[in-house]
Amino acid sequence: MPDLPVLALHGISKSFPGVKALKSVSFSLEAGEIRALVGENGAGKSTLMKVLSGAYGADAGTISIFGKAVENPSPATMIGKGVAVIYQEMAQAPHLSVAENVLLGRLPRRTGGLVDWAEARRQTAAVLERLGFDIDPAARIDTLSVAKRQMVEIARALTRNARIIVLDEPSAVLAASEIAQLFAIIRKLSAEDGVAFVYISHRLVEVFDIAETVTVMRDGEVVHQCRTNEIDSETLIRHMVGREVGDIFPKRVPKIGNEALRISGLSAGGLVEDASLYVRRGEIVGLFGLAGAGRTETLKGLFGADRAAHGVLTLDGKTVRLASPRDGLANGLGLVPEDRKVAGLFLKQSVGFNITISSLKHLMAGPLLSRVKETALVDTIIRRLRVKTPNARAAVQNLSGGNQQKCVIGRLVGAECTILLADEPTRGVDVGAKREIYDLLFELSDSRQLAIVIASSELPEILNLCDRVYVMREGRITAELDARQTSEEEVMRYATHN
Ligand SMILES: Nc1ncnc2c1ncn2[C@@H]1O[C@H](COP(=O)(O)OP(=O)(O)OP(=O)(O)O)[C@@H](O)[C@H]1O
Ligand SMILES: [Mg+2]
Repeated sequence: MPDLPVLALHGISKSFPGVKALKSVSFSLEAGEIRALVGENGAGKSTLMKVLSGAYGADAGTISIFGKAVENPSPATMIGKGVAVIYQEMAQAPHLSVAENVLLGRLPRRTGGLVDWAEARRQTAAVLERLGFDIDPAARIDTLSVAKRQMVEIARALTRNARIIVLDEPSAVLAASEIAQLFAIIRKLSAEDGVAFVYISHRLVEVFDIAETVTVMRDGEVVHQCRTNEIDSETLIRHMVGREVGDIFPKRVPKIGNEALRISGLSAGGLVEDASLYVRRGEIVGLFGLAGAGRTETLKGLFGADRAAHGVLTLDGKTVRLASPRDGLANGLGLVPEDRKVAGLFLKQSVGFNITISSLKHLMAGPLLSRVKETALVDTIIRRLRVKTPNARAAVQNLSGGNQQKCVIGRLVGAECTILLADEPTRGVDVGAKREIYDLLFELSDSRQLAIVIASSELPEILNLCDRVYVMREGRITAELDARQTSEEEVMRYATHN
């Protein structure tokens, strides 16, 4: 008799008001299998995994683990059955320590009931070491980078003896070396312990690298399944989007004007030291570095979001001091933050509200807000960026991860800013929408002469989108390169120890 699948989801359906998110989806996993789950933003990937984790009850369908149907798939039941889902939007207790997060609900106790902190830290240190993660078990979660928080989640899954681990876009927050490390761990756990993985990602290179099998979802349905060695990425993309995307990177000839922003000797975030850079009108400048290199800190320092930052900042040739994000906005700067959940969106507000909130000045008709202009702007953004939402009034928190990111980007189109700082603007966005965002950035820089600084950890994006590139390593700028003259190898050399 063949082995029973570790997991079999059968005929799973799930609706939300106005959206059929899953339409009779079936999905299974063998022991030790590494399966990729791909599809456009809003295809239903995260929803399916939330049904698997017990976070959402399905409207129809069954979940079987080792051939046995699970009666009441609550989160507690599913954890008990060995299912660990590491969400796209990580749900951690930010003020607790690493050890508390890893051992949440299962902290070791002394006789008498008090938590044995020494033992908790020892157990946590042991699992972190086994994974090769350099993280202090006593550190508070909110002091860690997003990448390290991701690692804490993986450590937690392991201490729970998970048999099925779902990683929902883990690499969106990891740098290349960390991805390599994560893949090594996935392979080891799959080969040695028979742990089965579901790997969700919009980066197809990774899908081909790590996964043996792939499932493609589109509009709430499974539209294709195969082995990764039986398909190429073009065909895979066609299954995902159901249309041709063409060249992912558009071409343009920049029209570069006067200097818009210059910083000299910036120190920021307790990490960035003596960083100097400039950007001109109509120019797109890239800030490349591995996780922890200081890109985010640099952008925050420029924007006024870091009180302790100092350095000499000039805007259009005039020296200014930005003491707060309010100052940044007042001086024509706009920031697309790294963590959209914390700083980028009004989650409870509607899609329309989030798109127009920075553009209100443009939308006035005399003293009143013009509903017509407002609706036109919102409709354009929703259509151009393919924001998947039942309508403009839906709350942003109900959109899929990638569609939330599109709202953050969409807001810029009508915004008053003249200098745009974007931290990982295409994180979690599917291939088709990426192309739309690139077009949009080119438009903003060409027709509105915006000066744009983009921090990204995706090299092809940096090299194809930008005119000039600054490379960062350990809080310092190590190189300034012409994006059209340099190569991935050269950039990487400056980003790592050479
Ligand atoms: N809690 C919710 N309330 C209402 N609609 C929801 C909710 N959760 C998801 N949806 C909708 O269900 C659909 C599928 O969303 P899901 O998050 O599963 O997409 P996804 O494939 O994970 O996309 P992404 O790649 O952007 O993360 C989307 O249209 C989304 O707006
Ligand atoms: Mg998702």
